[in-house]
Amino acid sequence: MGNFYTEVLVIGSGVAGLLTAELLSADKNVTVITKSKLGQSNSRLAQGGIAAVTSDDDRWGDHFFDTIQAGVFHNNEELTELLVKKGGERIQDLIDLGVTFDRNRDGSYSRCLEGAHRVPRILHAGGDATGKELVGTLLKRVKESCTIIEHHVAVDLIVENGACTGAWFMDGEGKQLTVKADHVILATGGAGQLYPVTSNDASVTGDGIAMAYRAGARVSDLEFMQFHPTIYAGDTTYLISEAVRGEGGVLVTSKGERLMEGKHELLDLAPRDVVARAIYEEQTPVYLDISSVPNFDQRFPTIASYLTRDGASSKKVPVQPGAHFLMGGVETDRYGRTTVENLFAIGEVANTGVHGANRLASNSLLEAVVFANEAATWIRNHKPVRLNLDARFQPLHIPWSLPEPCMLRNLMNDHVGITRHEAGLSSAIAAFEFYQTSRKKPASSIEEITTFNMLQTSWLMATSAYMRTESRGGHFRSDFPLPKQHFQQKRITRGIFEDEWITTEKKSRAIF
Ligand code: SIN
Repeated sequence: MGNFYTEVLVIGSGVAGLLTAELLSADKNVTVITKSKLGQSNSRLAQGGIAAVTSDDDRWGDHFFDTIQAGVFHNNEELTELLVKKGGERIQDLIDLGVTFDRNRDGSYSRCLEGAHRVPRILHAGGDATGKELVGTLLKRVKESCTIIEHHVAVDLIVENGACTGAWFMDGEGKQLTVKADHVILATGGAGQLYPVTSNDASVTGDGIAMAYRAGARVSDLEFMQFHPTIYAGDTTYLISEAVRGEGGVLVTSKGERLMEGKHELLDLAPRDVVARAIYEEQTPVYLDISSVPNFDQRFPTIASYLTRDGASSKKVPVQPGAHFLMGGVETDRYGRTTVENLFAIGEVANTGVHGANRLASNSLLEAVVFANEAATWIRNHKPVRLNLDARFQPLHIPWSLPEPCMLRNLMNDHVGITRHEAGLSSAIAAFEFYQTSRKKPASSIEEITTFNMLQTSWLMATSAYMRTESRGGHFRSDFPLPKQHFQQKRITRGIFEDEWITTEKKSRAIF
């Protein structure tokens, strides 16, 4: 395949990338390039669902408050408000595109509860296969409307005169490809694979963050990694959706006692960082008791099939926390624009600020669809700054000797994990820097590029964690166990709880 030009280049094929591509494909020539098979992503694995205000019993103010409370008031309030206000409209768009959400017997949408939501507002599909339904629906459309290139890893973004003008890629045989574009959309996901236990797809290795950083884009909040409390603790690991606890599942200790009793008023549905830490601190095995979940096999068919495959016949499922979602990432504005001209970031790779220090459950698919829409609107309505410059392939220079990925993962787990402290973070940073400062050579394989991205992203996350000398959300410092300030909380409580204000809003809210 020869080098080429496309108006829009989308890197990654989860919901954020596929939807942005689909939305722009009527007006622009769009190319989607993905490092593995099309659609292989975290989105595809999403079980719980998509949170949005879609019923009369819910209010955007409540969704807003649940989001910033879970985010420990570190959120960008303006964009969080946009996120929750646009939820209903964007859900309707998905339905119009062909996404089928589960319904109750009476035909109404089935809405479930997850951690830190005060009302059931999570729509789901196929029981626990929401991501599969969304990705599947989008794939059918994107395959028709866009150029697709699979199994090509992005080596680096092309930046000329301060603007991103494309990207260089490499295939499994080391062949290089240059793609020039007016707009480049990073939709590469987060960094769960930097940890030994994770719910993330094997492809999610922090590539977009490392590339954006090398391109000079601002990255932020990388200390905030969310650990999901319930990853199956067996020979294989996979997510046991929080929706299972929303439907009555409870965490129990090896003595059969309720783990969350006395730890948080929301018990098993406390924010994820609280539950994950409680499991981590328990030291002895923790189980998710699913005996009170009605019709478990019908409601959670994917999880039930995994448990059957793994011979987990008991109603007490062994669980452990694992890396799940990175709140920080490449900093963007409302339209997904990064600090580098023409470069956009959408989905988990982005830091819109809507998740604060800890994401509210099922807000990530919502973020992807809301900001894919905002970015597509901006791109559609703005003429690109075309830079017709030379962009011959430039190799990525990497250290001669790179660490084994499992060694990186162990360092992240031990020192940049559920709890952190200065000495551990310093030792992890020193280990990462040892490699970064060694002699360089051009990367010649996908494996080398991936490991280098993992190394750089690990280093960025460790240094961010080192610099934040407080505990907040997904970032817990045992040497600084408290949050530094609560000033944002005061600002928020000024308006949000005024009954009249909420009532007015309720009237004007569009509900489908
Ligand atoms: C889950 O199903 O527990 C995951 C949902 C999410 O992370 O938003």
